[in-house]
Amino acid sequence: MGDERKSMLVLDDIHKSFGEVQALRGVSTDVKEGELVTFLGPSGCGKTTLLRVISGLTKSDSGKIVLEGRVINDVTPDKRNVQLCFQSYALFPHLTVAGNIRYGLEVHKWKKERIKERVEELLHLVHLDGLGNRRIDELSGGQQQRVAVARALALEPKVLLLDELFSNLDANLRVQMRTTLHEIQRRVNITTIFVTHDQVEAMTISDRLIVMNQGIIEQVGAPIEIYEKPNNEFIASFIGYVNILKGEVKSTGKDTEPATVSTELGDLEILSSEKDIKAGREVYLIIRPETVYIGSLEEAIEVNKFKGTIKSIMYAGSTVKYVVDIEGRDLFIDQYDPTTLGIRSMGDKVVVTIPRNVHILKE
Ligand SMILES: Nc1ncnc2c1ncn2[C@@H]1O[C@H](COP(=O)(O)OP(=O)(O)O)[C@@H](O)[C@H]1O
Ligand SMILES: [Mg+2]
Repeated sequence: MGDERKSMLVLDDIHKSFGEVQALRGVSTDVKEGELVTFLGPSGCGKTTLLRVISGLTKSDSGKIVLEGRVINDVTPDKRNVQLCFQSYALFPHLTVAGNIRYGLEVHKWKKERIKERVEELLHLVHLDGLGNRRIDELSGGQQQRVAVARALALEPKVLLLDELFSNLDANLRVQMRTTLHEIQRRVNITTIFVTHDQVEAMTISDRLIVMNQGIIEQVGAPIEIYEKPNNEFIASFIGYVNILKGEVKSTGKDTEPATVSTELGDLEILSSEKDIKAGREVYLIIRPETVYIGSLEEAIEVNKFKGTIKSIMYAGSTVKYVVDIEGRDLFIDQYDPTTLGIRSMGDKVVVTIPRNVHILKE
């Protein structure tokens, strides 16, 4: 099903090198009006460079940047109608909250009355009503972040670019700010490109993820698509922990029958929607730790069950992260709710069950 919404920003084959370093190696994508997409990828993959190219602070070597149908490669940053906001929010410490928000409006010579109205509107939007006269250093980190967002929105840009916006905040505040940003973005319906190397952050706030690696886009899709059906090993391992099992297809299932794949652990029954798994083909199975079940030895051995030994235990509050040794092969398994289910001990003999609907990598 195609996306009916109109394109706000189109990037067409963007290249950018710094000397020998190829920061962007042909990036093409399409961001819809009102959408919140995230460029997600490891440090150094080109995310900041791409945002700078979109905002006009960096000139690309080649490729087109199209905003609302108009090529903007030669438009200066201040006339592009896109607003970039950094992680170190770079507020003016000597100005008040209102002074910071007002700044761009004054530069753009808005009328006094309109500026006053707009500042009130923005303070309300980011839940800082009444704090206009506060000094920046009298605000908490979360409040400062919201001032930065208000300042970025002041001139009603067509596209908001947010570069690792929350990386200076502590863990709980980060989670709060995700909700706040999401709510603000929905309310103003502004096309937003968020950049982060944090997979969970990206998944929780985005309509779509654009996964980058070494200057190219590896996969684009809704968070659930990227998590459950990664295109390759890089994406599978980057988005959460994963077990990757190599195997060979022994027999393909007809219709709803499972296929059998022989792996290092033994034979696995797999229900795959993939049409092209043929007998004899080498495949890689993606098995998420939270989908594997740990049971006791007494439980009857049926399909996809393997005997193993608990080799490592990491308690993480809501989960316990186990490594289970199965015939010399380590399997990562997360078990939720240790408060109710208890925690196993090192050396315990267990039986693990691998689900039948695992994802098979295409390549
Ligand atoms: N101004 C610059 N001069 C030289 N190399 C740069 C410059 N900016 C970025 N790079 C290089 O380009 C690559 C991509 O960097 P960047 O876009 O900052 O990645 P990210 O934001 O994903 O961490 C890195 O190898 C980085 O060292
Ligand atoms: Mg960066």
